[in-house]
Amino acid sequence: MLSILVLHGPNLNLLGWREPEVYGDSTLDDINHSLTVVAQSLDVELTVLQSNHEGVLIDTIHDARSVHQGIIVNAGAYTHTSVAIRDAIAGVALPTVEVHLSNIYKRESFRHHSYIAPVVLGQISGFGTQSYVLGLHALVSYLRQKG
Ligand code: DQA
Repeated sequence: MLSILVLHGPNLNLLGWREPEVYGDSTLDDINHSLTVVAQSLDVELTVLQSNHEGVLIDTIHDARSVHQGIIVNAGAYTHTSVAIRDAIAGVALPTVEVHLSNIYKRESFRHHSYIAPVVLGQISGFGTQSYVLGLHALVSYLRQKG
């Protein structure tokens, strides 16, 4: 069975309370629940982790190497700052989809640049919880086509 790692970065544990006008009312548990339902329908296994710590995210990406076949990542603000997370994704060379709840290109200019975008399969930004669901569909379909 395909095994996918879902990584949530900093401040995403506050979803539901945090700037609901930007990020919506869904909590992280709601998002993880939606993903679990979709994963069951696609017959894939999910491992989910949220961390506010860059090093924990990097360690988790490294550990994914021999365990998971792909990664869904919302690196939060580290998207715009972290060469180290980008290098970890490039280093493990696992197919990865970058997701964002908000449309980062509609927001402040410092959010328009993603260090991660050049090392992922693709990016889905602006569809709220659906960004994750669309990302999971896209990743599974890529992995199944690849064989
Ligand atoms: C985010 C967008 C980032 O700019 C921001 O720092 C986040 C969340 C999103 O999901 O829209 O924490 O990644």
